[in-house]
Amino acid sequence: MRRSVTIFLVATVVILGFAVHSVWTLLSLLVIDGREDIISRAELPAPNSGAISDRPQLIPKIIHQTYINESLPEHWKGPQKSCLDLHTDYEYKLWTDKKSREFIAAEYPWFLETFDGYKYPIQRADAIRYFVLHHFGGIYIDLDDGCNRSLDPLLAYPAWVRKTNPTGISNDAMGSVPRHPFFLKAIDSLPEYNRHWMLPYITVMASTGPLFLSIIWRHYNHASPEGDDRVRILFPDEYNNHPWSFFTHHVGNSWHRNDVKLIFWMAQHWVSVTLVGFTIGFALLYCIYTTFIAPRQSSSGPRSKFAYSRIPFYRRISSKSFELADRHQV
Ligand SMILES: *[C@@H]1O[C@H](CO)[C@@H](O)[C@H](O)[C@H]1NC(C)=O
Repeated sequence: MRRSVTIFLVATVVILGFAVHSVWTLLSLLVIDGREDIISRAELPAPNSGAISDRPQLIPKIIHQTYINESLPEHWKGPQKSCLDLHTDYEYKLWTDKKSREFIAAEYPWFLETFDGYKYPIQRADAIRYFVLHHFGGIYIDLDDGCNRSLDPLLAYPAWVRKTNPTGISNDAMGSVPRHPFFLKAIDSLPEYNRHWMLPYITVMASTGPLFLSIIWRHYNHASPEGDDRVRILFPDEYNNHPWSFFTHHVGNSWHRNDVKLIFWMAQHWVSVTLVGFTIGFALLYCIYTTFIAPRQSSSGPRSKFAYSRIPFYRRISSKSFELADRHQV
């Protein structure tokens, strides 16, 4: 095979390998659904069962929520009240911006710089929930989630999160004992994941939000935690929309922006988006090949041989590989 073709093929394989490697955790999220850690309906007592009080209660009875300040908007008072009414024996903590910052400054000062530096307030609202679960334990509930039944049965699992479709886990309802290793890993990883992506939505998702937590969850499970260290998973039917579900989900995400529509569209059409991405990638490679490599090949003699080894050729390939890798990591 001609040398330039070999170089071209090797470069293609390297670029593809790099692209696949950089999105490997994301790809694995598509096939791994956490079913081995499911909190199955069979092991949950019915909503009014007498068995509820017989179960061990490992998680402390605390409900955590977050908002800017104490004056909650009307549309969230209903869901909040449904949780308060069902859990009169629970402590309730509303983490306002002010209280959150004071808490981080007092208990986790190493994180204060990152916390203050977040560009979007929702990043602080995301981060604070991992810290309060790590510190106090309890159950965190988003303000747009109401309660449909007592959460007592969920106190029996040292740590749990909920599954999202089609992939990953969410951070809108989570429970944990204090100092669970999963939430330790989450808070420990936050500074490293504090990166900017092109779109605000992706920046939020990947630095502190559900995408961040899903990636941490994959890495955490990779080390095969056992027993109480495992993170149990609440599947959609136990989360929402069924008589036995623990929560009722209300619309009203306050922070969604214009780029959300694009992201949701891309998530729904991820197969086509991936195909188009790779097609564009290959088209680019083909253009490089026909423009820079093929012409040199057709001219013969020692001059063209000299041309292959000129440095700019390698530079061009490697700058492309960075572009591809960046785009696919998103
Ligand atoms: C709470 O925050 C909201 C939204 O920013 C604002 O409109 C309201 O005035 C604040 N309330 C108080 C008591 O500061």
